[in-house]
Amino acid sequence: MHRVRTDLDDVHAPAYAARLLAHEVPAHRFPLEGATPQAAAQLVRDELNLDGNPTLNLASFVSSWMEPEADALALTTLNKNLIDQDEYPQSQVIHQRVISMLGDLFHAPDGAWGTATIGSSEAIMLGLLAHKRAWQSRRKAAGEPIDRPNLIFGADVHTCWEKFANYFEVEQRIVPLTDHRHTIGPEQVEPLVDERTIAVGAVVGTTFTGQMDDVAGIDALLGRIESERGWHIPLHVDAASGGFLLPFCDPETRWDFRLPHVRSINVSNHKYGLVYPGMGSVVFREKTDVPEELVFHIDYLGGDMPNYSLNFSRPSTAVLLQYFAFLRLGRDGYERIVRTCLANARVLTEHLEDTGCFAALHDGRRFPVVVVRATHDDLDLYALAERLRERGWIVPAYHLPPDAEDLHVLRMVVKENLSRDMVTILADDVKRALKAVGQAVRPERRRRHKRQPVC
Ligand SMILES: Cc1ncc(COP(=O)(O)O)c(C=O)c1O
Repeated sequence: MHRVRTDLDDVHAPAYAARLLAHEVPAHRFPLEGATPQAAAQLVRDELNLDGNPTLNLASFVSSWMEPEADALALTTLNKNLIDQDEYPQSQVIHQRVISMLGDLFHAPDGAWGTATIGSSEAIMLGLLAHKRAWQSRRKAAGEPIDRPNLIFGADVHTCWEKFANYFEVEQRIVPLTDHRHTIGPEQVEPLVDERTIAVGAVVGTTFTGQMDDVAGIDALLGRIESERGWHIPLHVDAASGGFLLPFCDPETRWDFRLPHVRSINVSNHKYGLVYPGMGSVVFREKTDVPEELVFHIDYLGGDMPNYSLNFSRPSTAVLLQYFAFLRLGRDGYERIVRTCLANARVLTEHLEDTGCFAALHDGRRFPVVVVRATHDDLDLYALAERLRERGWIVPAYHLPPDAEDLHVLRMVVKENLSRDMVTILADDVKRALKAVGQAVRPERRRRHKRQPVC
């Protein structure tokens, strides 16, 4: 949300003067007259120079690079609205194929159902809303009250889970973290479950530490609860980043529809699905997991268009780019990229631990996210992050959620465009920054890293 600033009279008075613009352009008030496209674009570009460099942005999981062919494809699809299913039927066919391919990746049974969303946040809202409605219908049918629904998840979730609980009026039962446990499992969930629980949430690749909740353990718990007490409680898996990691680096681990109580999964295609921002997905185990009353059948654009979304219009570009990436890379290509990111993350972790100033929070076996804490109390991670910013690196320092908030960490998301060479440059910059904030850095050990595949 941004404040409306009609009280401000700031203007762009560009020094390009009459060459590009012969008049002042207001910065906050609605412009009275227009400018040439060159002038307008130049003003926008000039201001954007103040943004960080997406390549050096290790704070975000979101893809900041695609191949030139993808960029060209994006340009040709910018003018297509995904909701216009009758007008752009082939875009819809591609949307459907992308969802099918995802379902295949997550071992969805026949009859699974899903949709592209703007990101994982919308996907999570849709998943949980469906579970809330289904719970209400079951309770109504049994003549039981439908007030005070609750939702169980750990404090390790992304903020969009709390947003769902707030916007859709569901009590949130949050499993607290501790200084030594940054994920959740069945032991913490069981005491919170009751007959008003609409769903339990588990995360595969948490935002804070890149770790994984015990999804299989929670699934087994929900199976036992169903057989002992007759409560059918769905498990929603938030696989925002993990959904495109585990299938490629650890395909044997069961976290997806191979577990019987997993009824819905969300993923951010714009993270390790390797497409630009603007795309997530939600996949449901069965069509019946989405109550029919939530599906809108839109016909005024021609044809029957079943739609389950929070938005109406949305760009088709990210969906089409995801199709491009699936065709371009295949399983084999994703595997190589994920393995390379994991190897680079391990090398970065080793460099950081070698300084003697950091300890990693997890082993980096499945998630290419390097999260380190300081080994000395006098190392100010926030000051260090600022020093790194001077070189252009965007590396966030933050504290963990309540009950583990005494733990402060630095997090670096290793993406496809952070090469091994860039990792070494970053490690050197971290050492320089450490010295600048007054830390003694241990002399480097010489390591021989195994040769890794190139992505
Ligand atoms: C675990 C998890 N869930 C949900 C989200 C929200 O995802 P999106 O930005 O795609 O809405 C994030 C974002 O980082 C995340 O890490």
